[in-house]
Amino acid sequence: ANVCVIIPAAGSGTRLGEPVPKAFVDLCGRTIIERCVDNIPASLGASVVVVVPVDLVDRARTLLPDVIVVAGGAHRSDSVRAGISAAGDAGILLVHDAARPLTPARVFTDVVDAVRSGHPAVVPAIPVVDTLKQVVAVPGGLERVTRTVDRDELRAVQTPQGFTREALRRAHEDASGLATDDAGLAERCGIDVHLVPGDPLAMKITTPWDLRIVRDVVGR
Ligand code: C5P
Repeated sequence: ANVCVIIPAAGSGTRLGEPVPKAFVDLCGRTIIERCVDNIPASLGASVVVVVPVDLVDRARTLLPDVIVVAGGAHRSDSVRAGISAAGDAGILLVHDAARPLTPARVFTDVVDAVRSGHPAVVPAIPVVDTLKQVVAVPGGLERVTRTVDRDELRAVQTPQGFTREALRRAHEDASGLATDDAGLAERCGIDVHLVPGDPLAMKITTPWDLRIVRDVVGR
C-alpha cells in the first residue's frame, strides 16, 4: 500500500511565545515545517500533505513546492480531517506533528512496518521517567494529590502515528471527536492501538525551553 504522511501544522503555537505560528518558526536557518518534511525518510516513497493556517497556505506552498498544502481548522482534529481529504488513495496514513521535526527515520519505518504487518493503528511511545500524581483543584488553594499513578503502566506517545486508511477514516468519522492525538480517537471506536519504540529526538516543541533544546541539538 502507498504511504501518505499528513502533517498537521495549523496550530497557533501560542505556548511557544514566538511572533509566527509554530511550524513557521526558524530553526537554525530553516523553518520547523521544512525540517519536518525533510526528515521523512525517502525510502517510504510517501506522498506528503501539510495542513497550515489558512493565511499561510501561499507561504507554505512557496517553502514546500513538492508537497500538497491545504488549510486547517480550529481544532487539531479538523486539521487532520482536512489532511485525510487531501491524501488521495494511499492505503497507509501517517499523522505526524509538525512540532516534532527531528523524528528519526527509524521511528517512521517501524510504524509503517507494524501497520503493514497487520496492526491497524500504531504509535511510537517512550517510558515515563517522572513520578506522576493525580490531583484535584482546591479553589483558592494549592492543588491536592489524590493518588500516585503507577508509571510502569504508562507511556508517553509521540508521532508519526500510523493507520490503515480505513482505521483513520473511522477514527475521524465522529466530527465531534476532540482528542490530543489520533490514536485516542481510534481507541474510542474500539480499534486496537499498538506501540513501537519512540525516540527522544521525536520530542515535541511546545514551550520556549523545548525550542532552546532543539536549537542546541541542530546546532547553530
Ligand atoms: O497543540 P499541539 O502542540 O498539541 O498541536 C500538535 C500539532 O497539531 C501541531 O503540529 C499543530 O500545528 C497541529 N494543529 C493543527 N491544527 C490545529 C491545532 C493544532 O494542525 N487547529
